[in-house]
Amino acid sequence: MRVTVIGSGYVGLVTGACLSDLGFKVVCLDKDEDKVKMLQAGEVPIYEPGLKELLSRNHAEGRIRFTTDAQLAIDHGDILFIAVGTPAQEDGSADLAHVLSVAAMVGRNLKDFKLIVNKSTVPVGTADRVRAAVKHELTQRGMSSEMFDVVSNPEFLKEGAAIDDFMRPDRIVVGIDDGIHHEKSQRMMGDLYASFNRHHSRTVWMDVRSAELTKYAANAMLATRISFMNEIANLADALGADVDQIRRGIGADNRIGYSFLYAGCGYGGSCFPKDTQALVSTAQAHGQLMSVVNATEQVNERQKTLLVDRLVKRLGDDLTGRKIAVWGLAFKPNTDDMREAPSRVVIKSLLERGAHVTAYDPVAGHEAMVALKLDCAGQEALLNNFNLVAHDMDALHGVDALMVLTEWKNFHNPDFQAMKLSMRTPYILDGRNLYNPDALADLGIAYQGIGRRNELINLSVEPVMLETPALNA
Ligand code: UDX
Repeated sequence: MRVTVIGSGYVGLVTGACLSDLGFKVVCLDKDEDKVKMLQAGEVPIYEPGLKELLSRNHAEGRIRFTTDAQLAIDHGDILFIAVGTPAQEDGSADLAHVLSVAAMVGRNLKDFKLIVNKSTVPVGTADRVRAAVKHELTQRGMSSEMFDVVSNPEFLKEGAAIDDFMRPDRIVVGIDDGIHHEKSQRMMGDLYASFNRHHSRTVWMDVRSAELTKYAANAMLATRISFMNEIANLADALGADVDQIRRGIGADNRIGYSFLYAGCGYGGSCFPKDTQALVSTAQAHGQLMSVVNATEQVNERQKTLLVDRLVKRLGDDLTGRKIAVWGLAFKPNTDDMREAPSRVVIKSLLERGAHVTAYDPVAGHEAMVALKLDCAGQEALLNNFNLVAHDMDALHGVDALMVLTEWKNFHNPDFQAMKLSMRTPYILDGRNLYNPDALADLGIAYQGIGRRNELINLSVEPVMLETPALNA
């Protein structure tokens, strides 16, 4: 069986790389010539641990190719994955233009039976629209409209761990509808994922609409857990309780479990914000309320500004002359993805209040600049007060506070003594609860985590009062 993956973005490349590594002959199709040239030359346009190695090995061994030639790509695969983007529109609903134009393109190039597999995260009912678009093209060409099937196979890949998630899935969701091709489609999908079903079947078979909704339900559930814990954390702060102890106390209940209970400065990324919005918008379109998911989003928006609110409470609303360091820009570690990253909201808000921001991230610096330029469009002057540094410690010289926004490994055990010496005021706002509040209090560093039994653990460290702008200090 041969595989074609349409769309060489994040999901498409991971899918193509992993399937080629399982031995399938894979063709990746993308309309972006520069991207395809880059891939052919062994470069990978995104940062994902292990992806570059996997692609270059399988490329060298002839199992994966990259092309812009639609006819070649459609002829190649018995299975055609659609893995193109579904960006959120103004109203939160998913934009299906790319998916539907791929469907039409497939219909224009189809010569024999193909199994079309929807990998993109798409609203319920999209498979039917893909089916209609392919049929329309086939009818135009006077061909049988029965020479394909459309199934849904949502991805559950976490950025930074995508290869592992693909190669060691908790489950594989496959939605196939009743019809003349049902058996054949099920056999093909079964063969495709046979490597993962050797010991016990990890495939959960269902109908297409249920599979489409499963993806949204999974992401909304995970996002809800995070927002729920963020609210508990904020309450814990007010009550003098510790959210980390609460996390362990509730996680031990098998029905709850430990994962995705970490309070922080809000979730970001390409999935949770977009998918929760799309779910709310789908529900609205069908006259249904999605109150829990709606609240999840609202809590998350508030959570992103929590650290700035705390800083302002201590230093005042006007941060002119203040220097603030930020460690971690990407929405989470091991990625350079800045989509919906809390750092964007935090940095813009600091700059608007007049602060000077020095930021460090191990890989996301370039992407962060691109994102911040977008966010500050029309207010470009704000970025005069922003600079990126090449080392974490370089961000700290003379600052009034450090905000830790992403839990990169190399932030876990910093040299606190050196940090204290470098900062104008030793004050850490820990958006990922990396540090031990008591240890920092012993070191004389003011500390605020999220739900760590503190309004401010070490009140003895007073902020420096500004008479002259601190930038020259
Ligand atoms: C997520 C889903 O996990 C994945 O299954 C789906 O296919 C795509 O969306 P991803 O966006 O890559 O994956 O990242 P994930 O590791 O899930 O983290 C998402 C966000 O939630 C990050 O900003 C992270 O910092 C935050 N998070 C996660 C928390 O704040 N607390 C937690 O306990 C877990």
